[in-house]
Amino acid sequence: MKISGIALPLAISCAMATCAFAQNGEDRFIDDLMSKMTLEEKIGQLNLLPSGTIQTGLGQNSGVAETIRKGELGAILSLKGASSIREVQKIAVEQTRLGIPLLFGMDVIHGYETIFPLPIAMSCSWDLEGIENAASISAAEASTDGISWVYSPMVDVAPDARWGRISEGNGEDPFLSGEIASAMVRGYQGDGTYPKGKVMACLKHYALYGAGESGLDYNTVDMSHARMLNQFMLPYRKAVEAGVGSVMTSFNLVDGVPATGSDWLVDHLLREMWKFGGFVVTDYGSIGEMVNHGIGEIQDVAVQALKAGTDMDMCAEAYVKTLKKSLEEGKITEQDIDKACRRVLKAKYRLGLFDDPYKFCREDDFKTEVYSDKNRQSARKMASESMVLLKNDNILPLEKKGAIALIGPLADTPYIIGTWAVTANYKRGYSTLKEGFERALKGKAELLYAQGCNICSDAALQEAGAFYRAMPRGDDEALLKEALEVASRADVIVCAMGEEQEMSGESSSRASLEPFDVQARLLRELKALGKPIVLLNFSGRPTVLTWESENIPAIMQVWFGGSECADAVCDVLFGDSVPCGKLTASFPRTTGQEPLYYNHLPTGRPLPEGEKSFTKFKTNYLDVRNDPLYCFGYGLSYTTFGYSDLTLSSSQMSKDGSIKAEITVTNTGNRDAWEVAQLYIHDIYASISRPVKELKGFQRIYLKAGESRRISFEVTPDMLSFYNNKEEKVLESGDFEIMVGPDSRDSSLRKAVLTLE
Ligand code: BGC
Repeated sequence: MKISGIALPLAISCAMATCAFAQNGEDRFIDDLMSKMTLEEKIGQLNLLPSGTIQTGLGQNSGVAETIRKGELGAILSLKGASSIREVQKIAVEQTRLGIPLLFGMDVIHGYETIFPLPIAMSCSWDLEGIENAASISAAEASTDGISWVYSPMVDVAPDARWGRISEGNGEDPFLSGEIASAMVRGYQGDGTYPKGKVMACLKHYALYGAGESGLDYNTVDMSHARMLNQFMLPYRKAVEAGVGSVMTSFNLVDGVPATGSDWLVDHLLREMWKFGGFVVTDYGSIGEMVNHGIGEIQDVAVQALKAGTDMDMCAEAYVKTLKKSLEEGKITEQDIDKACRRVLKAKYRLGLFDDPYKFCREDDFKTEVYSDKNRQSARKMASESMVLLKNDNILPLEKKGAIALIGPLADTPYIIGTWAVTANYKRGYSTLKEGFERALKGKAELLYAQGCNICSDAALQEAGAFYRAMPRGDDEALLKEALEVASRADVIVCAMGEEQEMSGESSSRASLEPFDVQARLLRELKALGKPIVLLNFSGRPTVLTWESENIPAIMQVWFGGSECADAVCDVLFGDSVPCGKLTASFPRTTGQEPLYYNHLPTGRPLPEGEKSFTKFKTNYLDVRNDPLYCFGYGLSYTTFGYSDLTLSSSQMSKDGSIKAEITVTNTGNRDAWEVAQLYIHDIYASISRPVKELKGFQRIYLKAGESRRISFEVTPDMLSFYNNKEEKVLESGDFEIMVGPDSRDSSLRKAVLTLE
């Protein structure tokens, strides 16, 4: 029962955002510089363009060079290579009136040339230290090659697996994503003083980009403020609290207004409430897209974006082309432009670019630091920790003996690193799975191989999903025949199947998450051979594995594992590493369940979780169970864990107090292994309906075989509070279920009730 509510402020205090910099020196420097700048030069700082012609021509002669010379450019994106960047920076520094250096931005999403697993995969490691380390290595590599600014972390909460960009974020949970957001900002930026090896991060996509209707990219988003604040905003806020230097607005609408032009979102929530002190950049061409959204002509939407507090225009050239006119017409003031310009200059100052514009061009370090053995080891470890063992009927780990058949369209392609790796360098020789198997099995077992089938029978779909990364196509009948012949000679069959790596990511929504036709057929035929069979599922999103879960004895969700994916798969498959990943996105039984997420609200006609049979007039489908096939938090190991004796230090808590929830976790199997113990809370009655459960804490612990450990979670008032319909964070008295266990299923969790007085 709700007894009373107290209001907590929405605003946060943001130590890093208001900043520990020597503000005076910085302000004086920027005041002085801005006093010398013309209006055009100030507007120029707000302009971000793609490297475009520079990539094909010499920097000096490119079309962009002329724009730089005129002082009409503040930053460039997607130019790779320290020598090109040095050359272009030289134009800005030596051939412009004031010599203001450029920022060089890049989509460093999961690695630079050492590629880490997809972000969704990394999130399944729940290893914050490992993820911070991955960001730190990515920053270190990028910062030798001219890059000062990376467009990451992407922290959009994604409840719908049809959305291709679920691959770029941390799944469906705001708490976990918030923790990862902070870890990544720390990894990229360090303490924010940008010593050698650190770069400026860019939080994206602010905000709610993961909530597009029907999982369709760029689609409409519309939801209550209570929902957005409770379910979607936390990761963005956490990145701001961690001191992220810049924020990218999203393509979608928020309350009917494109995020780029939303003063509620940018000016009010981000800057005023969260005290964000950095600069805001649009996503690619977003100001131009405001015209398509039906908001106004380009000049007017540029005014709206600037007034909302969006400082830099990525690739729409709306600011450079219209702001001067708008100023003359009195639609904006010079202060509006000054504010934005100051924020961009501040970023450059803080990065140290005014002291040394070539600070990030460290060609010698590039040779020794990029794709080093050490970095590759980290990527391999992270890849092995991010795979999720979904099923194992005593098949895994495999022994390195006999004849092993590796079959499937993902078995011998280098395109298993994952989408959105624009800086990947395939010339480094990223291994195919087959090459990894050859190394792992050399001298121990015989390796047999067959492609088995195309990705799908529809050549056009395969081509669309390839996106410049074409995979070989053959005749499906012939491929099947060959695969069955090869498999008939094997003792065990390993299938490498799933999506092409570019079938997730931007503009890669899928209306069906079911397995592709020819792959499903191949798997059925292989199963009919009656041999032990393991499915390695490659995908950038949850896919439907319902038939597989009933018919294939071992299933490993590989995701896409970065440059070291092949060796990491072998590490896990053959038992050199013990799988420890746990899902951060629910796997549906069928596509029609999407959006599917564990932290949903209860309905008025709930069905008990896990109920298998249909009940009339309850919330359920006629043709499929409600619960996911594999739930949030789920993942198996080569050992087993038991949870017992959940106790609360007190069953009552005051609003300024806290209590401890303790539980014993035991490794009940015979392999030493990592386990992720998860704390969920359910607010039973509140002034607005609250989710059936929400993750509020987790601990990743290493337990030796047979070892038991008592672990403890502090339950704080913040974990029990939520945003109400007035955007107030409130803490309401009443009863809360406290649940701890290995995953989010009711049946896995130990429970106790806590009363907040
Ligand atoms: C994407 C962003 C990316 C930007 C720059 C956009 O299309 O949405 O995530 O950072 O391009 O490449």
